[in-house]
Amino acid sequence: MLTNDQLDRWDRGTFFHPSTHLAQHARGESPSRIVTGGAGVYIEDRDGNRLLDGFAGLYCVNVGYGRQEIAEAIAEQARKLAYYHAYVGHGTEVSITLAKMILDRAPEGMSKVYFGLGGSDANETNVKLAWYVNNILGRPEKKKIISRWRGYHGSGLVTGSLTGLEMFHKKFDLPLERVLHTAAPYYYRRDDTSLSEADFVAYCVQELEALIEREGAETIAAFIGEPVLGTGGVVPPPAGYWEAIQPVLKKHDILLIADEVVTGFGRLGSMFGSTHYGLRPDIITIAKGLTSAYAPLSGSIVSERVWQILEQGTDENGPIGHGWTYSAHPIGAAAGVANLKLIDELGLVDNAREVGGYLNRTMAEALAEHPHVGEVRGEGLLCAVEFVEDRETRRFFDPAKKVGPAVAAALLSEGVIARAMPQGDILGFAPPLCLTQEEADVIVAATVKAVEAALPAR
Ligand SMILES: Cc1ncc(COP(=O)(O)O)c(C=O)c1O
Repeated sequence: MLTNDQLDRWDRGTFFHPSTHLAQHARGESPSRIVTGGAGVYIEDRDGNRLLDGFAGLYCVNVGYGRQEIAEAIAEQARKLAYYHAYVGHGTEVSITLAKMILDRAPEGMSKVYFGLGGSDANETNVKLAWYVNNILGRPEKKKIISRWRGYHGSGLVTGSLTGLEMFHKKFDLPLERVLHTAAPYYYRRDDTSLSEADFVAYCVQELEALIEREGAETIAAFIGEPVLGTGGVVPPPAGYWEAIQPVLKKHDILLIADEVVTGFGRLGSMFGSTHYGLRPDIITIAKGLTSAYAPLSGSIVSERVWQILEQGTDENGPIGHGWTYSAHPIGAAAGVANLKLIDELGLVDNAREVGGYLNRTMAEALAEHPHVGEVRGEGLLCAVEFVEDRETRRFFDPAKKVGPAVAAALLSEGVIARAMPQGDILGFAPPLCLTQEEADVIVAATVKAVEAALPAR
């Protein structure tokens, strides 16, 4: 057995961590955590800490940790057939079964699933499909993709470009051409605080229309958006947002890509965010909750309309020139089948709605009087607390003060993990969908203590 110190040295000496201050980590100036186990909503580390994971890893361990049914399904598949590819019409029993299970749960009008490995590569596929479709339709100029500021769609070249957060662009020469950003549907952070929610929706629509007008609808292929902004701040859309945006896209024949990597499979208390908010997407991105992260797997669900054009494309041009070695990997597919069964058996979609409603309500009540809490918001089992220097004037803290990370650190010392969202002083919660009311109480009580410790009310 390795000692913690040995592992720590290897970690700092050999391991290139994602989304990490590399120099501080290598020099041993920032904390690290070596996670050794998990059960339900709790994880354990090598230092003997047991922590309530209020962010389900990276909002992905939706069924909770330690589910033996999924572990067994993975093991059984590995013993039987660990791998076969999906090229030129090949498949495995589990991958085909999973495609059928996804379609059975998907919103109306969806037709087929292409499998990838993670959310970034799925969105990469989606952009390629939008380009391919317009080439097949004889519209080679119609290629730009509109995303929103504060959207998160991955950190590859095109997906990092779609992501509308500064840290994912800075020093990486992103965004690439062909990617445009429009207003974030983030009512609390509107520039003009006199706007009503309905006025703000009208503003978002005007911004979108003005962008389309400037660029020319004939140059725009698709609009991509998360039903609820995730990494950009955990922000449910203002009432009427999607109802107002969709007709604009339709009018200009712009495809809608609903990025449901976070919202798919129950997080909002509905199976999909698209049905929750009445979206009629042409393509849906899925990942995280598809396997609850027991194995890497993602997907692009394409609508019947898109599928018909793809068929036409291959009739005219031969097999589609797109594929990954690990598309529809049987281990991921086995995890997906077992995970979706478990979500149904345990009634986790309903639980997300009920316990999520409870968590959001009790969090809002508990922090209602705190002078540095500007807003508590959420939907289903997504919840966010946004901090401000002055509540009355909505003056934000200087980012250099790192208030969000300070509250997250205080919360950690209370035994609860939340995420300091990367842009703004926002504490994000996205616990496993199996959270109980008692566990929600633990989260709220610890948050109240942490906020008071990091930001005394005076
Ligand atoms: C909405 C959304 N899309 C895409 C991604 C990218 O997924 P991955 O990190 O698996 O590449 C994420 C990851 O957090 C996400 O939240």
